[in-house]
Amino acid sequence: MKSFHIITFGCQMNEHDSERMSGILQSQGLVPADSVDDAEMVILNTCSIREKAEQKFYSELGRLAHLRGRDGRRITIAVAGCIAQQEGKKLLSRSPTVDLVIGPSDIARLSGMIAQSRGSGRPVVETGGDPEYHQKLVPAARTDGLKAWVSIMYGCDNFCTYCVVPHLRGRERSRPPRDIVDEVRGLADRGYREVTFLGQNVNSYGKGLDSACSFPELLGLVQEVDGMERIRFVTSHPRDLSDGLISAIRDLPKVCESIHLPVQSGSDRVLASMNRRYTSDEYRGKVLRLRDAVPAVSLTTDIIVGFPGEGDEDFAMTLQILQDVQFDTIFAFKYSKRPNTKALELPGHVPEQVKEDRLEQVFSLQKDITFRKNHLHVGSIQEVLVEGESRKGGTLTGRTRGNMAVNFAGSHHLKGSLVKVRIIAAGPNSLSGDLCE
Ligand code: SAH
Ligand code: SF4
Ligand code: F3S
Repeated sequence: MKSFHIITFGCQMNEHDSERMSGILQSQGLVPADSVDDAEMVILNTCSIREKAEQKFYSELGRLAHLRGRDGRRITIAVAGCIAQQEGKKLLSRSPTVDLVIGPSDIARLSGMIAQSRGSGRPVVETGGDPEYHQKLVPAARTDGLKAWVSIMYGCDNFCTYCVVPHLRGRERSRPPRDIVDEVRGLADRGYREVTFLGQNVNSYGKGLDSACSFPELLGLVQEVDGMERIRFVTSHPRDLSDGLISAIRDLPKVCESIHLPVQSGSDRVLASMNRRYTSDEYRGKVLRLRDAVPAVSLTTDIIVGFPGEGDEDFAMTLQILQDVQFDTIFAFKYSKRPNTKALELPGHVPEQVKEDRLEQVFSLQKDITFRKNHLHVGSIQEVLVEGESRKGGTLTGRTRGNMAVNFAGSHHLKGSLVKVRIIAAGPNSLSGDLCE
């Protein structure tokens, strides 16, 4: 077997896990193929966050099974990620075309599993989770060249009642700070300029480490890495947004003024039943403190509509918090029933049509807010990390510290540098401007 192709569903953690699986396979001499058609092995790196994500995986698996039958081609099919963890060996009985099932904390064993399955001619399942995984150095094959994801922790201890993640990614484990700093230094040496730290709840980074290191302290360590120009992170749980982190965003020049702070709902009743452990006023208070310290901070959030028991008044409070906080952008979802989660048993499941209507209302309100906020940038001068030619061609593209895309004219030699751009116009998803100097 020489070539492989990975199809990734889900969050940035999964994207990065795919880079790691690719790194492992390439270190074994396999080459990435551009498509399924050219690949001898296909990995589906799956997501289970909502029902729709799960459906997407099963239809892709069906397509692959069909392809394999049609050509008589012997493609090896591996299922990785959160559905692999959720279903384990049940996947084999559901689909006889699956050769490997590998959980997110087992990917360091990927090449061993491939060898085992080829040796025995039988499927191999590994979802037990490697207890040492967070201390392992797993190679990652990144393709961007400029911006890199780096995992700083795995798992989640929060058990929000709607969420499968703690059931599938296990308890919180933090990577040792020295490993993280070394990885960032290696990236900077290879020309990377921006790092995004990944974790389900980065603010609680450091729990259980041998030598204590908090998340703001970790940011301070990475600030010292020469050549790495920007630091971002996702995701922050509002309850754990500390004054220490607010100060780090204010004081550390490389830490971008941008934070994703999922609020989920504006109703205290719903928040309590989601087990979010903050009230909407506590959330508003944190946002005030953050904006007080870092006025230019860009703020994004996640919203769930139609959580069990969400009445019209609860939903009105979600619209209200969107009005009050004025997020730059939001991600909004209809509540989706997930296996083994507590919310399944809550009374008052909301009809699909009501969820649809509420989602529409959320999007329509936010569309206006985002439009207005984007226009506030017009006339300002923004620091932009130049990523290269824009997709449409003809202009350069890059991102502001607030993570807004900006298009502007300039030489492609600028790729990888930080430039100043004066913003002259705003669209729904991006800005355009003129290079300063
Ligand atoms: N760890 C992150 C995000 C995890 S999942 C955090 O705590 O914020 C990303 C988003 O998916 C969540 O913020 C939530 O808005 C949404 N989500 C999670 N489970 C869901 C479910 N069962 N139905 C609908 N949306 C869900
Ligand atoms: Fe899921 Fe909540 Fe953990 Fe985020 S914090 S991963 S929403 S349980
Ligand atoms: Fe999906 Fe698992 Fe990420 S459920 S969102 S791939 S942690």
